[in-house]
Amino acid sequence: MNRKNPFLTAGYEGPETFCDRERETAELIASIENGRNTTLIAPRRYGKTGLIKNTLSKLSPEYDRIYIDIYATECLADFVNLFAESCVASLETKREKIITALGRFFGSLRPTISPQSDGSVKWSFDIAENMAKDSLSATFDFLRERERPVVIAIDEFQQVRNYPEGRVEALLRSYIQFLPNVRFIFAGSAMHMMSEMFVMPRGAFYNSTDILSLDVIDRSVYQSFAKKFFEDDGLSFSDESFQYLYARFSGVTWYIQATMNRIWQTGNGLRSNKDVDSAIDTLIGNSNLVFMDLFRSQSDASMAVLKAVAKSGYVSKPTGKEFLNTYSLGAASTVASVVSNLLQKELLYKTADGIIVYDKLFAQWLKRMAL
Ligand SMILES: Nc1ncnc2c1ncn2[C@@H]1O[C@H](COP(=O)(O)OP(=O)(O)O)[C@@H](O)[C@H]1O
Ligand SMILES: [Mg+2]
Repeated sequence: MNRKNPFLTAGYEGPETFCDRERETAELIASIENGRNTTLIAPRRYGKTGLIKNTLSKLSPEYDRIYIDIYATECLADFVNLFAESCVASLETKREKIITALGRFFGSLRPTISPQSDGSVKWSFDIAENMAKDSLSATFDFLRERERPVVIAIDEFQQVRNYPEGRVEALLRSYIQFLPNVRFIFAGSAMHMMSEMFVMPRGAFYNSTDILSLDVIDRSVYQSFAKKFFEDDGLSFSDESFQYLYARFSGVTWYIQATMNRIWQTGNGLRSNKDVDSAIDTLIGNSNLVFMDLFRSQSDASMAVLKAVAKSGYVSKPTGKEFLNTYSLGAASTVASVVSNLLQKELLYKTADGIIVYDKLFAQWLKRMAL
């Protein structure tokens, strides 16, 4: 077995190692081609970033494309630095053009330009906080004047909600609606924040974008995708064991990829559920210290609730008598505030069927701890 592991656990490497998402990719492309912006919403690890990368790679060549991940930005100035740099750097490749664009649109902001020995220029804004709004406006002026159509994907968009300036999305919305040649994809995982901005009537982006909520990959499609790699290498592949794996993680992409990656690594194929179990054990083992730290940094009440939710799987009524009594959790009011805090911290997650532990490996780790 000398083939590269086909089960990626990070990044995008083209259609060969990318499973399905054909309908979603087509929908995104159709929105772009018909002049609509799209909001992509799904919990972490479902495959939003992968889908964006896949879509950008399949767009017709007439489009310029920009991808930014704003997870690490903490304020409007951070956002504008990243956004402006990505726009100018990806859209203008020639040194003279970059300098002209910087002078024209960003002149008053004095970007630092340093010519490199290879003829390119290195530059950055380092925009001061009080200049952030002007720079944002300049970036949109720059985009507006471009003739070629451009697609801008902003990943982890819910992060704008954490900026101290507040309502940054309203500011962005005011610019975005006047850009005929620019299409946006906004992707995000914090459901409540994303829906407050895009789905709720009082949200700044209410009714202004298509909403694509990403579900898990269909089981049989995923199974055929995975099976093919094993069969091509003459390795065994148990359909039942794949189904067992899919069920253990409710089909969520990252967990399936990570487990299949480990199983592939053994070189023995997927023979039985034991192969699945031992791959999952390895994954949990690798995260043991992280989980331990995370768990120990919680209050006693939070630890108890986390363990109880993990044992139950789904909890539809976290303050109901049955749940409280089964796990001796004490007063409903305390549990209610603990749950809300854990949801906020993204340790718990609310689904239509009830509350779950967000990270499915952490859930399995918790389940193993004695109550
Ligand atoms: N359609 C897919 N087929 C195969 N692997 C995928 C697919 N979509 C995502 N992945 C992989 O699953 C993992 C999680 O996907 P990612 O796109 O990062 O999720 P999200 O952005 O929703 O958190 C990544 O390792 C990625 O490489
Ligand atoms: Mg992502």
